[in-house]
Amino acid sequence: MRLATLTSGGDCPGLNAVIRSIVRASADYGSTVVGYKDGWVGLLEDRRVNLYDDEEIDRILLRGGTILGTGRLHPDKFKSGIDQIKENLANEGIDALIPIGGEGTLKGAKWLADNGVPVVGVPKTIDNDVNGTDYTFGFDTAVSVATDAIDRLHTTAESHDRVMIVEVMGRHVGWIALHAGMAGGAHYTVIPEVPFDINEIVKATQRRFQMGEKYAIIVVAEGAVPKEGTLEYDEGEVDQFGHKTFTGMGQLIGNEIKRRVGQDVRTTVLGHIQRGGTPTAYDRVLATRYGSHATRAAHEGRFGTSVALQGDKINVISLDEAIGELKTVPVSRYEHAKAMFG
Ligand code: F6P
Repeated sequence: MRLATLTSGGDCPGLNAVIRSIVRASADYGSTVVGYKDGWVGLLEDRRVNLYDDEEIDRILLRGGTILGTGRLHPDKFKSGIDQIKENLANEGIDALIPIGGEGTLKGAKWLADNGVPVVGVPKTIDNDVNGTDYTFGFDTAVSVATDAIDRLHTTAESHDRVMIVEVMGRHVGWIALHAGMAGGAHYTVIPEVPFDINEIVKATQRRFQMGEKYAIIVVAEGAVPKEGTLEYDEGEVDQFGHKTFTGMGQLIGNEIKRRVGQDVRTTVLGHIQRGGTPTAYDRVLATRYGSHATRAAHEGRFGTSVALQGDKINVISLDEAIGELKTVPVSRYEHAKAMFG
């Protein structure tokens, strides 16, 4: 077989581990692999590179980012390019395409599958919000980076009697905030799924200082929003891909705490640091398993599907399931985590 792969959407640690795994597993089948550069744009514009099972590929396991580059393509341009995409794949003799990406990429994969392209998707995102999959690779690395940052903030916060706000990624979901907050011993965590009550955060912070504690750490997911009518904020804009732009919810919460608690406050926005660098061992293993299972699914002709981690098994699910509702943090889980706040 001749396989093709590409990485699309925001990058994430572990993408190279998947690419390496696809190339190495394909070699075992006697198959060859082509990579398309820069996501769907590269497929549309036929930006192709042969990927060989050599030393160079072997070394990318540890490397963050993606050797293929990534990008976003507007759905209209994508859809109007279907004939060109099919022609490019046919000219290169491609038997199966393995796109690696998040919800948007898997929606693109589904659309290609509906148009007769043999596709097996691999879910990726540091946000961990893809449906049907317990964990996406990149999430563990992002949580580790955020936890390390929180660990460091504890000591400097304590030295200065400060409130430290740590804003982490999470456009629609609070998985990174919830896990990093729990692992880092945050005194309060806010997530997009549960609109926050600023009075509750202020009270929890006040209580700590009244009880003689010297500092507080508050983790805020970038997509968090206040309960309606409780705090004025700038809702930001929506970009051409339908993604909300953020206006600094961490800073806003920090300003409110400073004003009402009277304590010194500093805000740290972790941003893309969470997406960069080498993947954790867990992510390298998960990415490698995803890559080899997707390669196997392609050789078995199981198209219109995506690989998914369910329990400790990698299963093959339909793309329909993978692009179903975003996997949000259950409210009950957040409420349970609240026992550790304060
Ligand atoms: O989807 C993953 C994610 O990391 C979000 O949490 C974040 O809002 C977004 O990507 C930012 O991506 P970019 O800056 O690449 O548009």
